[in-house]
Amino acid sequence: MANKQKNLDTAFFGQPRGLSTLFFTEMWERFSYYGMRAILLFYMYYAVTKGGLGMDQATAASVMSIYGSMVFLSGVVGGWLSDRVWGSRKTVFYGGVLIMFGHIALSLPFGIPALYVSIALIVCGTGLLKPNVSSMVGDLYSEEDPRRDSGFSMFVFGVNLGAAVAPWAVPWAANGFGVHMFGSTMNFHAGFSLAAVGMFFGLLQYTIDGRRYLSKNSLYPQDPIDKESLHRITVWTIVGVVAVAIILALMAVMGQLNVNSVIMIITIVAIALPIIYFVMMLNSKKVTKVEHHRVLAYIPLFIAAAIFWGIEESGSVVLALFAQDRTILHIGSWHFAAANFQTLNPLFIMILTPVFVWLWDHWKNQPTSPTKFAYGLVFAGISYAWMALPGIIHGTTSGRVSPLWLVGSWFLCEIGEMLISPIGLSVTTKLAPKAFKSQMLSMWFLADAAGQAVNAQIVRLYTPHTEIQYFLAIGTVSVVFGIILLFLSKHISSQMEGVN
Ligand code: PHE
Ligand code: ALA
Repeated sequence: MANKQKNLDTAFFGQPRGLSTLFFTEMWERFSYYGMRAILLFYMYYAVTKGGLGMDQATAASVMSIYGSMVFLSGVVGGWLSDRVWGSRKTVFYGGVLIMFGHIALSLPFGIPALYVSIALIVCGTGLLKPNVSSMVGDLYSEEDPRRDSGFSMFVFGVNLGAAVAPWAVPWAANGFGVHMFGSTMNFHAGFSLAAVGMFFGLLQYTIDGRRYLSKNSLYPQDPIDKESLHRITVWTIVGVVAVAIILALMAVMGQLNVNSVIMIITIVAIALPIIYFVMMLNSKKVTKVEHHRVLAYIPLFIAAAIFWGIEESGSVVLALFAQDRTILHIGSWHFAAANFQTLNPLFIMILTPVFVWLWDHWKNQPTSPTKFAYGLVFAGISYAWMALPGIIHGTTSGRVSPLWLVGSWFLCEIGEMLISPIGLSVTTKLAPKAFKSQMLSMWFLADAAGQAVNAQIVRLYTPHTEIQYFLAIGTVSVVFGIILLFLSKHISSQMEGVN
């Protein structure tokens, strides 16, 4: 725990001044990430004549999902490097630099190779930055500081502020800054440049303010690794990289090396990793009997979270395609782009967060976490089933429908997010066995990674022809799982041994 000074620092809306540094760093990082994602899908499958890469649409959708999955998978390594090698301050900085270069790669006209370089840089960079910025927020407070929860809420507000502004700013740049600078084609590179500039502001602010307002502790690893172990791990990492290279080379020789087979391998890894973690925790001698029960109780919650994030994260893929192909892109004389719809998710979070904070503060006999999760899944499922309605009502999935369908869907999904995201974060830390504290936090990110890994396999099935079945099938899975969870919630709560 850093900053345990007696005179409480209240310089940033009653919170420590360091929170402002981390708030703006994460705000700019999310600005760059979500701005890039708002146009990336279209950049990938638009024809070359329209400024895109001309990829097949189903593959582009699949790449979006596996990319989102990898960004959270890499957090496992990022957290480890910060704890054991670099300390959080440097790890976050390196991450921000990689992310900025990732956006710069896409701002240059180097086509598909630049896309893959960019994905690699941003996956590594976000893995270094995101989990560690979040844990630095926790380090600003002592365990008993009552401002801790509100500090996290403000931080999440920063995430969503960046995420809400970017889907206006970045597509605006890609469309020629409102003056049709690029004629009728898109200049996606201009959009990606703006994402890079955003990350640059974040880094600048982080470096200058961080020096003044972040604790000196963050400059050092909390649990430094000794030279010998570092050497051993470096060797194993090299062995691992070589093994992967050999596998890829073998696949190439057999003519199996293509985007889809690589995506399939990553899907398997993203699903296997949390399973391995669970088995490890359940078999560890360091885990007490009570903790063992808690880990068991976490399994259904983890599965629920994975299903939820699968639906939530498909907003930048499936709903983005619905916006592009099936939605009327103006209200009266006000015209907008399909990419602009990405603002709705973070916007609803910003609106709903105060409502739910109030609710949790005032609701006397409020439901337990498993019950909240169950309702979260039901809302997410309904947000999908709702999207089947325009096709059913109009009797066709060819034409365009009101943008209010998408607005309604995101609204329903974000109610679900309010019931799962903040609750899940807090219950994860509370259910964590002592010996696995920081790994458990990675588990929370891995639920999102697993959901998106499954998406990578199924989003390719989505087209206007399959739209109704797609939304109904996945929506039903989510609702059914929610109902099962509701029936199990009493039992799960008792397994949680006092955590609620
Ligand atoms: N939209 C969230 C973010 O960008 C996604 C998230 C998933 C956050 C899982 C935490 C854990 O921060
Ligand atoms: N929904 C995204 C996240 O939770 C923006 O912050």
